[in-house]
Amino acid sequence: MSSPVFHYRHKSLCVEDVFLSDLAQWVGTPFYVYSAGKIGSQYLQYEGAFREVPHTICFAMKSNENLAVCRLLASLGAGADIVSLGELYRAHQAGIPMSKIVFSGVGKTEEEIAAALKAGILMFNVESSEELDVIHAVAQRLRRVAPVSLRVNPNVSVDTHRHITTGHAENKFGIPLSQAEKLFMHASRSSWLKIMGVQVHIGSQILDLSPFRETVRKLQGLIERLEEKGIFLHVVDIGGGLGVPYQGQSPVHPSELARIVAPLMKKNVRLVFEPGRFLVAESGALVSKVLYRKETGRKKFVIVDAGMNDLLRPALYEAHHPILPVHQSAALPSEKADVVGPVCESGDTFARSRLIPHVKRGDLVAFLMSGAYGFSMSSQYNARPRAAEVLVKGHEWWVVRARETLRDLVRGEKVPPYLSVKKKGR
Ligand code: LLP
Repeated sequence: MSSPVFHYRHKSLCVEDVFLSDLAQWVGTPFYVYSAGKIGSQYLQYEGAFREVPHTICFAMKSNENLAVCRLLASLGAGADIVSLGELYRAHQAGIPMSKIVFSGVGKTEEEIAAALKAGILMFNVESSEELDVIHAVAQRLRRVAPVSLRVNPNVSVDTHRHITTGHAENKFGIPLSQAEKLFMHASRSSWLKIMGVQVHIGSQILDLSPFRETVRKLQGLIERLEEKGIFLHVVDIGGGLGVPYQGQSPVHPSELARIVAPLMKKNVRLVFEPGRFLVAESGALVSKVLYRKETGRKKFVIVDAGMNDLLRPALYEAHHPILPVHQSAALPSEKADVVGPVCESGDTFARSRLIPHVKRGDLVAFLMSGAYGFSMSSQYNARPRAAEVLVKGHEWWVVRARETLRDLVRGEKVPPYLSVKKKGR
């Protein structure tokens, strides 16, 4: 799809062939909306770039765990990169083949390891020697050979937000390259471990792909040293990380990554990728209603009904999400304003002193590029039920997650008998 996913028709913002204002009327605000077409076209870009070589694209579920989104990607051929038992469960519910699941994360519990082993996943991306020993012990106990890859930390610097770099020696992730060979040898001696390969994930929202070049060079060196020792890898997992143009930067294309990893493609290995953001970020928007305007003399504030509990990225990373009015109007000039949510924290700010079209109470606004790490990082902070999620395909749409109710807010909670209050009948 070459046209922008979110576009104006008769001065009203649409996603594919659906007006956001119609959705707002049906589902209320705030809500997330995703374009199935855009998710598909992003996936096919990735797929196309590596068509020539054996590869598996494992969608990083943490970026968007909605079952319909995961199912859509699975229907196109994707597997999943999971980081918890919860994500294993979701992947199963979404019909993602277990044989295409990689399990990442520095803190896998024994329970999680056992469940994933029984489920028959493609491999564990192991992050420490202690974890490797625990996987060995669980495999032995269950009498099932565990497929493992070692996640190495290539110690490369990536130009991205400090919270989302992962491939530097300062980060908690991966096994230092200097220790990797020894650990591979250790793993090769266990008959309960099957060495699948090596994995890296150097960070997220990467727009300058040069750190991948250094990473590939370091991986090649490791692979050759292992071959000399008689250890042959079947899989090289490059992780995720491709960035998206939140602020109109020039976008990256997976074919650039393909050029960089070309030396690995010549090896007789399956390449695994774990993209999250690249597949889903641009497909999604958070739609919210303006509750109030307020001018303090120093500043103008636009107060909307979505908060940091719905979209945490601006508060946590000072992330920039483009903001568009759902109805275009030229009645009043654009203005500099802070766009803020209702949560009782100053950090609950989507944009500071940003030039935005004039909007008034009752208008709808869309926070674009919210399909990744949007709903999945949302919470009920301030006792705010989580938003609805909608999937659009052409002129059709489906509520793929209902808005939470007030009951959902207290589900599972119990007041001990000694504190219980008799509720007055209503
Ligand atoms: N693989 C591993 C092992 C990861 O840790 C991650 C992301 C990915 C793949 C997917 O990375 P992606 O392709 O989406 O860049 N909440 C942050 C992003 C955190 C990323 C964590 N790991 C944000 O909103 O920017």
